[in-house]
Amino acid sequence: MEGSWGGVLAVLVILAGLTAPGSSYEIIEGPQNVTVLNGSEARFNCTVTHGWKLIMWSLKGVVELSITSQQPIITNDRFTSVSYNRSDRFISEMIIHDVQPGDSGLVQCSLQNSNVLGSAFLTVQVMGTLDIPSNSLVVTQGEPCNVTCYALGWTPLPDISWELEVPVSNSSYYSVPEPGDLMSALSILALTPLGNGTLTCVAELKNLQVSKSLTVNLTVVQPLPDSTGSSLPTWAIALLAVAFSLLLILITALIIVCCCCGVCRREKEESSYQNEIRKTANTKPNKTDPETRFKSGKENLGYSSDEARAAQIASLPPKSGEVSLQGQRSHIAPYQAHKTRQPSAANHPRVSFDTASPQKVRNATLV
Ligand SMILES: *[C@@H]1O[C@H](CO)[C@@H](O)[C@H](O)[C@H]1NC(C)=O
Ligand SMILES: *[C@@H]1O[C@H](CO)[C@@H](O)[C@H](O)[C@H]1NC(C)=O
Ligand SMILES: *[C@@H]1O[C@H](CO)[C@@H](O)[C@H](O)[C@H]1NC(C)=O
Ligand SMILES: *[C@@H]1O[C@H](CO)[C@@H](O)[C@H](O)[C@H]1NC(C)=O
Ligand SMILES: *[C@@H]1O[C@H](CO)[C@@H](O)[C@H](O)[C@H]1NC(C)=O
Ligand SMILES: *[C@@H]1O[C@H](CO)[C@@H](O)[C@H](O)[C@H]1NC(C)=O
Ligand SMILES: *[C@@H]1O[C@H](CO)[C@@H](O)[C@H](O)[C@H]1NC(C)=O
Ligand SMILES: *[C@@H]1O[C@H](CO)[C@@H](O)[C@H](O)[C@H]1NC(C)=O
Repeated sequence: MEGSWGGVLAVLVILAGLTAPGSSYEIIEGPQNVTVLNGSEARFNCTVTHGWKLIMWSLKGVVELSITSQQPIITNDRFTSVSYNRSDRFISEMIIHDVQPGDSGLVQCSLQNSNVLGSAFLTVQVMGTLDIPSNSLVVTQGEPCNVTCYALGWTPLPDISWELEVPVSNSSYYSVPEPGDLMSALSILALTPLGNGTLTCVAELKNLQVSKSLTVNLTVVQPLPDSTGSSLPTWAIALLAVAFSLLLILITALIIVCCCCGVCRREKEESSYQNEIRKTANTKPNKTDPETRFKSGKENLGYSSDEARAAQIASLPPKSGEVSLQGQRSHIAPYQAHKTRQPSAANHPRVSFDTASPQKVRNATLV
């Protein structure tokens, strides 16, 4: 390299000497593109041939620094320079201190009496802040949760990643730019934690290989048994309410049924008494029981008594004993039986008289 540079210089010097002695200054190498972080310093080199009179540095078209062979002419405190005098060339290094985002732009070095320019771009990046809103994270073991990391005020937007020092069964994350804010992004980490640990959100500016991170403690608590109850209160309460109302309906239904039964039993007692009366009238000892059970006293009184009429005499002695027994049990029942039978007795005066007459005799004997 030195040899080739030397050759080039030699050619240049010869050419310069041949054509126009006194205006032979050239920029051998101009500045290079630089990307720096806000607040740091940016350096640019401009390599020129010997014999130069004035080197000018400009940023975004504004001359900020001029260098003569005697001394630099500083016009802005943030712009300084360092000189390196080599045997074959001169290098001027411009240093921009405390660069600001507004410094981003075109940097040029130029020589007086020359239209040759060396140009490069200065790019200033800004590292913003990180925030995980809930700094003390208490989550339930084994339940999926989300943790959001906000990167605010970054230029450009950083690459956000997560470092998990916590046992998890599953985790994933994705980053998106914050809508309406060109300098902010957010990353959502979805994880199913199994134990205590830390979560670290890392935001990196790839070009500069610089990163910022934020670590939070993740406290994992055991799932509470009543947490499931509190998480499902509406349907549980609804179920309870339904159960209670059903129970109430059931109880009401039971009461009604009991009342009905009570009434039925009374009616049965009455009807059974009527049956007994009919039995007394009935001659067939085997057939009477089922028949009388199915038939209500009102309907077929006449028929039963018609049948009974034929063999009234034969069945009378044993059946009358039964009737007398029932009569002993309840005195009211015979009276009621007579009352209910009165209309039918009017319809079939002969039959009712036949059936009733022995009973009346029996009751009379009992009392
Ligand atoms: C310097 O940066 C400018 C603008 O970003 C770009 O166009 C150019 O290609 C870069 N030059 C080099 C040598 O990377
Ligand atoms: C850039 O850095 C300077 C000093 O380090 C600071 O005062 C300024 O607020 C920063 N600007 C931005 C946009 O972050
Ligand atoms: C400029 O050149 C000098 C001398 O070669 C070197 O020490 C310095 O690192 C260079 N600066 C840049 C920004 O290249
Ligand atoms: C650099 O060194 C050369 C000799 O090597 C000298 O002629 C020239 O004046 C020096 N330039 C400055 C700015 O010191
Ligand atoms: C986590 O966020 C995603 C969307 O980003 C959402 O679908 C999911 O319900 C969230 N999970 C929890 C536990 O908040
Ligand atoms: C992990 O979570 C992702 C989405 O959150 C899901 O698609 C995937 O199936 C889960 N993996 C396991 C092993 O649970
Ligand atoms: C996490 O730590 C808390 C105390 O900081 C403790 O009460 C809890 O049991 C721990 N959880 C697990 C899963 O170890
Ligand atoms: C996280 O826990 C460590 C000890 O385990 C403690 O020193 C630190 O202050 C905690 N950080 C936060 C943000 O609570």
